[in-house]
This record gives sequence, structure tokens and C-alpha cells, in this order.
Amino acid sequence: MPSVVLSLAFLAGSAIAQQSVWGQCGGIGYSGPTSCVSGSCCVTLNAYYAQCTPGTGCGGGGSGTTLTTKTTTTTATATPTGGGGVGSGKTRFAGVNIAGFDFGCGTDGTCNTAKVYPPVKNYPPDYNHPDGAGQMQHFYRDDNMNIFRLPVGWQYLVNNNLGGSLDSTNFGYYDQLVQACLSTGAYCIIDIHNYARWNGAIIGQGGPTNEQFADLWRQIATKYANQPRIWFGIMNEPHDVPNISTWAATVQAAVTAIRNAGATSQFISLPGNDWQSAAAFISDGSAAALSAVKNPDGSTTNLIFDVHKYLDSDNSGTHTECVTNNIDSAFAPLATWLRQNNRQAILTETGGGNTASCQTYVCQQLAYLNQNSDVYLGYVGWAAGSFDSTYELDLTPTQNGNSWTDTALAKACFAR
Ligand SMILES: *[C@@H]1O[C@H](CO)[C@@H](O)[C@H](O)[C@H]1NC(C)=O
Repeated sequence: MPSVVLSLAFLAGSAIAQQSVWGQCGGIGYSGPTSCVSGSCCVTLNAYYAQCTPGTGCGGGGSGTTLTTKTTTTTATATPTGGGGVGSGKTRFAGVNIAGFDFGCGTDGTCNTAKVYPPVKNYPPDYNHPDGAGQMQHFYRDDNMNIFRLPVGWQYLVNNNLGGSLDSTNFGYYDQLVQACLSTGAYCIIDIHNYARWNGAIIGQGGPTNEQFADLWRQIATKYANQPRIWFGIMNEPHDVPNISTWAATVQAAVTAIRNAGATSQFISLPGNDWQSAAAFISDGSAAALSAVKNPDGSTTNLIFDVHKYLDSDNSGTHTECVTNNIDSAFAPLATWLRQNNRQAILTETGGGNTASCQTYVCQQLAYLNQNSDVYLGYVGWAAGSFDSTYELDLTPTQNGNSWTDTALAKACFAR
């Protein structure tokens, strides 16, 4: 989509209702107050969302100044904030998940390796799999994306041998996708898609030992120690984990193993309980417990909290209609906590159907993250790769000759 364009036209505030700081003040389909309280001004983030943003740069000087916008042609650009801890107006990272090596993984941490469907074109036996490499090249080149998350099952990587070495054949195929990602110039998240489990039992709490899990990460980090754009995603969607402190110790074991393997400075993302829910991250104790996870030198440099959030009626990411932008319920309170604690987060799964409601709400949500890019490093949509248009949350582009066509949602909200 075209970059956000602002034109400046100041309207004096009047007796009409005024929106509070961080509240919505404009956008397609919005009918509430368009004037902001004193000390803030209405900044358009995209066609679907404008937000009252603190700052004195609204001009005019009166209370309730409004920055109105247009969304078609290019004229002036304006730095959207006047200060106050918010970011540059654009998160550092944006991209999509390239799924397929995780197919066959269930939420109990079983992964049927016969059911993987890798987005690696020359994958046997048919050598006609989806072209994940081409998709990433397209996203990087045409949509200015710069991060891809590459889910994979633990069982696949070690060929079902818990505690064993990376399987050279299986890891070789996965590494093809990783290398294809790196060759675009993007950052590449290695995501172990196991829900904190191996075959039904939780790591460090009745299932695999922390040592077995750390050894997996030691081996992976050894392979990629010299790749600054590799991002280590410790685990996908822990849930129903009985003891969050014990889980944080498991995460710590993985972090220590990665750093000690020579990957001393790359990003590592730390997942909390409750399917990494951005809304539950503070209340379920994940934020406090994971705050104790440190690098070997005692710092938290590049240890990034990893959250997920969907926008459908039950936050499951299984419906094509969206009902919320998650801002008031999740991303605003989390931003406050992150700022207070001097930490950052990344949203590594979010998305919706290719519907009008999801276009509205997903764009609003991502605009909020962009607006708060001091604490939100970025977002990664779910999902492209081996999905196709029969999947509710499909973000897979379709190829025609040398050109690719994005899904409606990818084009509206994730492309930049
Ligand atoms: C969780 O585990 C820690 C040790 O890691 C222990 O001290 C604590 O009592 C446990 N909490 C619960 C609720 O069992």
C-alpha cells in the first residue's frame, strides 16, 4: 500500500467531544470523535486508522487540534509524533510467516514428520512444492518486508530422536529455506513450533529435560552463529504451562546455550504462556517471569518478548471475520508496561481473513504497532508458505510468470 501521507489542515477545537490520548480519531468506517484532547493531535496511520498522539507539534496551539489527512496523492509528510516515548512511526521489522515445515505439528507438541509440507520447491517426492524462496523474494522486493518466520517441528529437525543430533537430511531441507530467506536480505526467525512440548509432555515439567531442549538450540545456534540476521525464536505458543517460573528457567537454558554456542548478539525471542497472548502477557505472569531471563553477561540485550494475537471472536485465528483491533485490550497496556520496564516485544503471529472486517482491524492494529515502534520491534503475519486460498488466514501470494499477486489482506495491511 502507499505510504501514509499527511497533509496539514488545522481545525480549531470546539465544544464537540474530544478523543483521549491513544484513542482513535479517524479512518474508514470510524464515526467517533475526530478531535483530540489538548496536548495531542490526530495522526493518520493509514486509511483505516488515525490516532490521538501526544505531542506539541500539532500546530495551532489550541486544544483539540486536529491533523487531518488524505490518503491518495503524495504531498507533505509529517513526523507523526512530537515526542513522548513513541517511536518513529514505523516498526523496524515487518513480514510474514513462511509455513510448511511445521505442518503435522499439533498443539500437544506431537509433530508427525510424514505430514510436513515444506515450501521448498524441489522437495521430494514430487519436487513441485510451493516456492517459499520466490515468495520471500517477492515480499522483500515488492512489499518492503524485511523479516520472515520459518516454523519447523522439533521432531522433524532431529528425525524423531529426542536428544539426538540434527538430522542432516531434514535439517538440510530446512536450511534451504533459511538460506533462501537470508539471501533476500531479510531477518529470518527460526521458530520451533512445538507448544513447549514433545509428544504431549512439557519441556522441563515432565517432558524433555531443559538439557535436551538447550542442546537442540546449541546445535542450531552453532550452525548460524555467524549470521547476524538469524533470529532465534525459542518456542511457538506455550500453553497450559503449570509453572511459569519453571518455564522461564527452560527459556533461560535455551538462551544460555545459544549465546555460548557463539551466537552472542543476535535477536532471541522469549515466549510466554497462554499461546503467547499479547493480552495475557502481563496478567498471567509471563512478563515478570521472563524478565528474569538474561544473557550470560547479565544483560537483556536483544532478548525480545514474543507475543501473538488474532482478531477473531475467540482470538483463535481460525475465523475469517475480525471483531477487534486489540489496541485497548492488549497492545496499549503492553506498550505501557514495556516502556516502564525498558523492554521490547515483537508480534510474530497475527492475521485474519481476506475480508473487509479484517482489513479494517488488522490495519488498525498494525498501525498502532508502527506508531509505538519504540517498544514494538515489528510484526509477522500468519501465514504464507505452503498455505493456499482454501486456508482462512491465507497470506500466500500467487505467481503468474515473473509477477506475484498478494492476497487482499497482505496488500492492505502487511505490505509497506
Ligand atoms: C514454580 O516453580 C518454582 C521453582 O522453579 C517454585 O519455587 C514454585 O513454588 C513453583 N510454583 C508453583 C505454583 O508451584
